Amino acid sequence: MLILAFETSCDDSAAALLDDDGVVAEAVATQAEHGGYGGVVPEIASRLHMSTLPGLVDDVLVSAGTEIGEVDAFAATAGPGLVGSLLVGLSWAKAAAWAGGRPFLGINHLSAHLHIHYMSESPVRFPAVALLISGGHTGIFRMDSWRECILLGSTRDDAAGEAFDKTARLMGLGYPGGSVIEDLARRGDRSAVDLPRPLADPSLPEFSFSGLKTAVRLQWEAGADPADLAASFQQVVVDILADKLMYQAEECGAVTVMAAGGVCANGPLRSRLSLECSDRGIDLRLPEKRYATDNAVMVAMAARAVLDAGYPASSKLSCNAFSRWEGERLTALVDPEGA
Ligand code: KG4
Ligand code: ZN
Repeated sequence: MLILAFETSCDDSAAALLDDDGVVAEAVATQAEHGGYGGVVPEIASRLHMSTLPGLVDDVLVSAGTEIGEVDAFAATAGPGLVGSLLVGLSWAKAAAWAGGRPFLGINHLSAHLHIHYMSESPVRFPAVALLISGGHTGIFRMDSWRECILLGSTRDDAAGEAFDKTARLMGLGYPGGSVIEDLARRGDRSAVDLPRPLADPSLPEFSFSGLKTAVRLQWEAGADPADLAASFQQVVVDILADKLMYQAEECGAVTVMAAGGVCANGPLRSRLSLECSDRGIDLRLPEKRYATDNAVMVAMAARAVLDAGYPASSKLSCNAFSRWEGERLTALVDPEGA
């Protein structure tokens, strides 16, 4: 089965082709045009998806040596994300599915991030606890199977990636902030600047990063050393994420801990989780760094999981884009046919 998937929820345009054995071809174009604005400008993002996606689809089909008529199912991120951006990928997938009489699958972006672990060489064992940490979302989920994914708690204000981005912006480091903060932090002392740890109680599966961002701003204005500030900020975020995740892993008797989303590219966080999980004999699944940030492979894998599970295996063609997800039970397929 050949699945062609699209991801256009924010500032990465991506297409990927997946067969029964894994990724056949993929292409990602990251929009550098937002750098000067300190964040993603929605209309610029939509327009760039519109002009970039056709070339990406051609690249993927050519490098796979196949044609659009050979594709068995089409998938695209339906949300959460920037609606104008989402509509571009969604409309592409719907049009291709409709023209070819193939199934169309609208995919939840958060579920897609977790599904990057779906086709791993050794299948994920359950119960598992999953940490989703991206630019727009931060949450912990309990998973009893790929289809049973329950939100234990999320952020009350900023997402973890947003905290990195806002910290980088106030320090004049540009956008996106995660990797620049991580680079700068290498030269700093992580205990040099005293910062608050909001909602730090590990037993509370909720997060709050906006007070931390304000404290960073005050320290910055008071003349803190940039590298020390970056290192201290990063340390607080890593501690909060790791402590809460490991607490829930023990509570749920998890045999697997999964992490997904752009912030998983963070080196100190990856090392900390590796250490914590190996101490407890828990199987840790971290995405390769290129699959931590937005990509279409994860969308294709989520679609694959839906198709493997059987009915309902397609979304309605009227499936719409959405900006926020506020549910409790996270499912991969949006707006199932027949529901
Ligand atoms: O998952 P993603 O690509 O997009 C969303 O769905 O939001 O995540 C992007 C986020 C950005 O906030 C970016 O600053 C953060 O991931 N990020 C990092 C690192 N690389 C990317 N955060 C911390 N350390 C990194 N190395
Ligand atoms: Zn994402």
